[in-house]
Amino acid sequence: MPESILIDTDPGIDDFMAILFALKSPELDVLALTTVFGNHYIEITTRNALVTLELAGRDDIPVARGAYAPLVRAYHGPPTSVHGHDGLGDAGFTTEPESEAAHTRAAQFIVEAVMSRPGKITLVPLGPLTNIAMALKLEPRLVQATKRVVLMGGVAFAPGNVSPVAEANIHNDPEAAAVVLGANWDVVMVGLDVTTRVVMPPRYIGELGESGSIYGKLVARVVPHYQAYHSQAYGNDGALYTHDPSAIAYLIRPELFTTVRHPVRVDTWSGYGMGQIIVDRSSKWYPGVETTICADVDAAGVLELFRERITR
Ligand code: RIB
Ligand code: CA
Repeated sequence: MPESILIDTDPGIDDFMAILFALKSPELDVLALTTVFGNHYIEITTRNALVTLELAGRDDIPVARGAYAPLVRAYHGPPTSVHGHDGLGDAGFTTEPESEAAHTRAAQFIVEAVMSRPGKITLVPLGPLTNIAMALKLEPRLVQATKRVVLMGGVAFAPGNVSPVAEANIHNDPEAAAVVLGANWDVVMVGLDVTTRVVMPPRYIGELGESGSIYGKLVARVVPHYQAYHSQAYGNDGALYTHDPSAIAYLIRPELFTTVRHPVRVDTWSGYGMGQIIVDRSSKWYPGVETTICADVDAAGVLELFRERITR
C-alpha cells in the first residue's frame, strides 16, 4: 500500500521538483497539495501548485490555499533572487492554470483529511509551518490522528542559509515551527544538515533534460535561475542543493539517511538566533518529545533515486 501524503508547499523551484518526484513514486499517494506563503505570496504559490500539477498531467489532485503570512509576524515578500519573479525560475511557465483551488482553506483541509482517515495520512511540509500549526490549533487531535510528519526545514548541526544558524522555512515562521516541533507526534526533520550534502551538478541536470522524459525536461527547464543563484551565493558553479526533494527521498528510502533523536526547541526571539533549532543532545534540558533529525545522508543514493524516478 502506498503511503498517503499531503504536501504543504510554497512552490518554489525545489518544491516543483519535489512534487514531480513524489508523483512519480509508486510508494506515495499524493492526496492533495496545500499551499503557504514563503517562496512567494500565497496567490503565486497557489498558482504555481496548480501549474505544477497541470504540467505533470495530475490536475485531478486538489489544491487548497493556505496562510498568506506567519502566525504573528509580517511576511517580507518573495526571495526573487532565489526562485525568480514568478517563483518558478522565470522559466516561461506563463499559461494561467485552468484548474482552481478548493474552497476550503489549507488548515481546515488538513484537519478534515486527516480526521477522516485517522492514523493513515502523513504530512509533508516543504515551506513555513504556518498551515500545520493552524491545523493543530483547529484540531488538537491531529497529534494522534496524523501518521507522521516528514518536513524539509531547519538545521541542527550545520550552518543556516538565511542567518548563521537558521534555515529559511523555520525562520519564515518560527512561532509556527515551535508549535509543530513542540507537539507530541512523530516528526522527522530533513534539514540543511543533509540537503546541502545532496548536490546536483550541472551535468546531472543536463542528463535529466536529455533523458526523453517529460518530467526530466520540466526539471531541467525550471532550474537555471536556481543554478545562477547557487553560483552567486555559494560559488557552486551551477550545482544545486537538493532541499525539498530530499524530504521525498526520506519518505521512499529512509535507509539512505542516518538519524538521531533528540528534544529540540525553536528560538522565537527576534535576535540573531531567530529560527534556530536548539538541539538538546543530552536529552536533559527539554525532557519529553524527541524529534528525528536527519544527520547524514547517502547523497549518491538520493541522486540516483531522484534520477530513476524523474526519468522513468
Ligand atoms: O531552506 C530551503 C527551503 O526554503 C526550501 O523549502 C526552499 O523551497 C526554500 O524556500
Ligand atoms: Ca519549499
